[in-house]
Amino acid sequence: MKLEVRQPVRTRGRLITFEGGEGVGKSTQVKRLASGLREQGVDVLETREPGGSPGAEAIRTLLLDPDLKGWPPMAEALLHFAARSDHMVRVIEPALAAGTWVLCDRFTDSTMAYQGVTQGLGTSIIEQLSALTLKGRRPDLTIVLDLDPEVGLRRVATRGEDRNRYELMDLEFHRRLREAYLMIVRSDPARCVVVDASYSVDDVEEQISALVSGRLEARLAG
Ligand code: TMP
Repeated sequence: MKLEVRQPVRTRGRLITFEGGEGVGKSTQVKRLASGLREQGVDVLETREPGGSPGAEAIRTLLLDPDLKGWPPMAEALLHFAARSDHMVRVIEPALAAGTWVLCDRFTDSTMAYQGVTQGLGTSIIEQLSALTLKGRRPDLTIVLDLDPEVGLRRVATRGEDRNRYELMDLEFHRRLREAYLMIVRSDPARCVVVDASYSVDDVEEQISALVSGRLEARLAG
């Protein structure tokens, strides 16, 4: 299916976030959607969290370093939101204001799923931190790539890269994480959609293209 999106002239851009556990293929799909949108003449910024701005990338190094042995969950959540605040103010908001569509590999739902639910900090703390940091800004669309964590972790292992602190957590952690993401989707179906990431990269790309055309076109027109 061909990706078709009309970019309205001089209106605010759209924020599309990609979420899911380890090895689900988010980064590949961000790239694929970005190139599909660019072919349609849409200005696109690809970015990621934690990171996306120089300050947030510095915080990312602190968060992912396996040698640091982790942070207390509250400190960890605050670091993620500190990085997000810098990324929002310096990169995402200016891009959206200029009419650029921002595709972000992970966003607040990652903090909800990893720190809020799976690491047990609690959903209400994440909601409060999110309200303070984002002041009501939400993604226009969140694509949650869903995959059996055993398959995802196998994919990560075959990449041959050093594994970050989260990727080194056990299978039970990643099973709970998957459930946390599905809970997030159930709680906000207008914004979030699940895509089955067990299909081929091309098939997943096609599903995402159809979703973006359908969901965002309808919203833009309405
Ligand atoms: P990734 O960019 O390779 O997905 O790695 C980022 C890691 O950080 C990933 O394992 C998930 C984790 N993470 C959180 O725990 N909370 C967050 O808020 C974000 C954005 C990422």
